[in-house]
Amino acid sequence: MKATSIVEFVRDTYKTDDFIPLHAPTFEGNEKAYVMETIESTFVSSVGKFVDDFERKIEAYTGTAKAVATVNGTAALHAALYMADVQKGDFVITQALTFVATCNALYHMGADPIFLDVSPMNLGLCPKAVDAFLEESAEVTDAGCLHKQTGRRIKAVVPMHTFGHPVELDELVAVCLKWNIALVEDAAESLGSFYKGKHTGTVGDFGAVSFNGNKIITTGGGGMVLCKTQELGMHTKHVTTTAKVAHPYEFFHDEPGFNYRMPNLNAALGCAQMEVIEQYLKQKRRLAERYADFFNGTDFKFVTEPEYAQSNYWLNAVICPDKESREEILVGTNSSGVMTRPIWQLMHRLPMFENTIRGDLSYSEFIEAHLINLPSTPVEIK
Ligand SMILES: Cc1ncc(COP(=O)(O)O)c(C=O)c1O
Repeated sequence: MKATSIVEFVRDTYKTDDFIPLHAPTFEGNEKAYVMETIESTFVSSVGKFVDDFERKIEAYTGTAKAVATVNGTAALHAALYMADVQKGDFVITQALTFVATCNALYHMGADPIFLDVSPMNLGLCPKAVDAFLEESAEVTDAGCLHKQTGRRIKAVVPMHTFGHPVELDELVAVCLKWNIALVEDAAESLGSFYKGKHTGTVGDFGAVSFNGNKIITTGGGGMVLCKTQELGMHTKHVTTTAKVAHPYEFFHDEPGFNYRMPNLNAALGCAQMEVIEQYLKQKRRLAERYADFFNGTDFKFVTEPEYAQSNYWLNAVICPDKESREEILVGTNSSGVMTRPIWQLMHRLPMFENTIRGDLSYSEFIEAHLINLPSTPVEIK
């Protein structure tokens, strides 16, 4: 398989000779009308009906007990880790194969990551790797799960649903229960992805979603914390909105808070985008099937959803047979105006995380060296 055939195939799919990005937003519904409504009402900022509407829409769609809108997905994850009581000096187990935001959020809690491998089934954190690491390195005590060598607490496990493909949540829940560790799902990429019928981000104690411009739906910038209970949700809303105690005019804040509020202007965009999410999901599934057919019978392996789950196919991906073909495709497609991208460099290669504890990362390293993301903007395929 050469870059030229991929370029031809993608151009035929999108029916254009123009530049084809990896994932572009589309606004063909009520976006303009709702955004104009916020401007005309002057409620463009941190209060307004669209923020509430958007939170309720996400609750209805995901089935979470309470959704709390935030200014972006990183802020949602930061708030979720705060609510999960991650503290300075704690360890948080996550995957080395992720976008840097996962690690930035825990770093800003004063925690350090422990990097473990991903599963070939879904490219997300492998429950067996987590359990094996804990068996070897941890003990459960009255003070929580402790890392034996350092005595530091292992407070949370943060799996990431890579490109929208759900991780093995039942198994991760069991590991977290066994070791008394919180489960916080980085569901930034997986709005519209379901694990055995449950929406990703709703199985753990908390989940964090992103509405960045490249995600399945966008608010320009935005995020959402999905909370397991009403009570946790109310508290999350409180701390993400400066922890102000409700009063018509007095200012009293009863704990340290964040200003992570999503502006009404952005929430308006989100409400309109939620009206068309089903259409995007259908189009993305059809697009993924088309890629799968295209690569079928070649030595390139198209990444498909695990059999137990329904993925949103946020970013399509293919595993190349070797590093040379990966390079040829990256250079050939990008120089022909069809955007493709390698996966992120593994987190322990970044200067701020290079001295962190890690387990065997063989499969993450293999994926890092072989995987390419393909254009994934939803498109009507006849
Ligand atoms: C895995 C992952 N986590 C977190 C984020 C952070 O989201 P945001 O860009 O909205 O801050 C993103 C996306 O950008 C992501 O892909």
